Amino acid sequence: MKLDSKVFQPDEFLAQYWQRRPCLLRGGFAQFEDLIEPEILAGLAMEEDADSRVVRRAVNADNSSSWQVEHGPFSDYEAFGDSHWTLLVQSVNEWLPAVGQLLTAFDFLPQWRIDDVMVSFSCAEGGVGPHLDQYDVFIIQGAGRRRWQVGERQNMTNYQPCADLTLVKEPFTAVIDAELEPGDVLYIPAGCPHDGIALEPSLNYSVGFRAPSQAEWLQQLGDLALQQDVLNQRYQDPDLRSRKSSYQVSDNELQQCKALLMQTLESGQLDDLLLRLMSQSKRTLVEPDLPYTAQQIDDLLAQPQALLVRSAGARWLYHQPQQAFYGNGERYLVSPQSQPLAHKLAQQTEHPGADLLTQVNTGNDRELLAELLNQGLFQLFLDTD
Ligand code: SIN
Ligand code: CO
Repeated sequence: MKLDSKVFQPDEFLAQYWQRRPCLLRGGFAQFEDLIEPEILAGLAMEEDADSRVVRRAVNADNSSSWQVEHGPFSDYEAFGDSHWTLLVQSVNEWLPAVGQLLTAFDFLPQWRIDDVMVSFSCAEGGVGPHLDQYDVFIIQGAGRRRWQVGERQNMTNYQPCADLTLVKEPFTAVIDAELEPGDVLYIPAGCPHDGIALEPSLNYSVGFRAPSQAEWLQQLGDLALQQDVLNQRYQDPDLRSRKSSYQVSDNELQQCKALLMQTLESGQLDDLLLRLMSQSKRTLVEPDLPYTAQQIDDLLAQPQALLVRSAGARWLYHQPQQAFYGNGERYLVSPQSQPLAHKLAQQTEHPGADLLTQVNTGNDRELLAELLNQGLFQLFLDTD
């Protein structure tokens, strides 16, 4: 999928809007066709493992709203009535490849920054209320029309009208106030207040970007370092002298602690840990029932309808200085001869077997493919008819 070049130029967008101000791309996707039916979304929200919620709004006599959030899995939707509610399902790209295809339109941004595609279905008057997100988001309007109001980035007071819903207290001045129609795209940078109310039953696709905070990253790095048994240098103080008051922490001691941490931040080990984190998938990847062997690869790729596909939600990243590839938290030291194959795998999400076969020349290539299949990073589809 591609954003229409008549209304969207990546460089211009990045220079003017990305992380700066919201923008509306009318007809961002020309002749947009929905990637999921509302019934399929509702069915997905019945799955135990799907992350889904319904946000309901009741309009009070004084025109204020009361809110309620319910979490899936849902067994039916009758009780919600036919207006004033929205069903939201996270990471639909990981469940439905067709929805995952939407991400190809955002190839001009680093793959590791992409979080997921959330899909919402709103009944008339449905919405999740005026709020701020910590993440940049592109909201694509599918079926139906929805009125969106978006403000510039500003400091606002959050409040929780009910459990699991955080809204902004003050009204905001909308710099975008528009009725979105199918194919329109709204870009909302992190921290900009926004509110979307469906004018009729509506589908919305939100492509969200992750931006971990220092604390989140430190926590994840710490967990990963412990798992990998790295960064295990300990605090040392061989020059310690006796002191009068043992309850004091000296500035020198604080500096030594910070120096130890700074050493970590500057070490190559941290680069490796960060790259592992960036490559991690949100959900567990599914490994094949029977492991593939390098010897099988040529025959499998040669089958008439063979298609190698990057698993939904899997990342296959490259770090040039190390010439290393990363996928789902693992580092792959790819031999120089297999680098063209590894790059080809990174450049597209789907590869017909015949195309790939021309690229598979060495035992290393076959082993790399078998390993990636066995880790669940890629999947091989064969015509089984
Ligand atoms: C929605 O689709 O209803 C919510 C999207 C958002 O506000 O981020
Ligand atoms: Co939002």
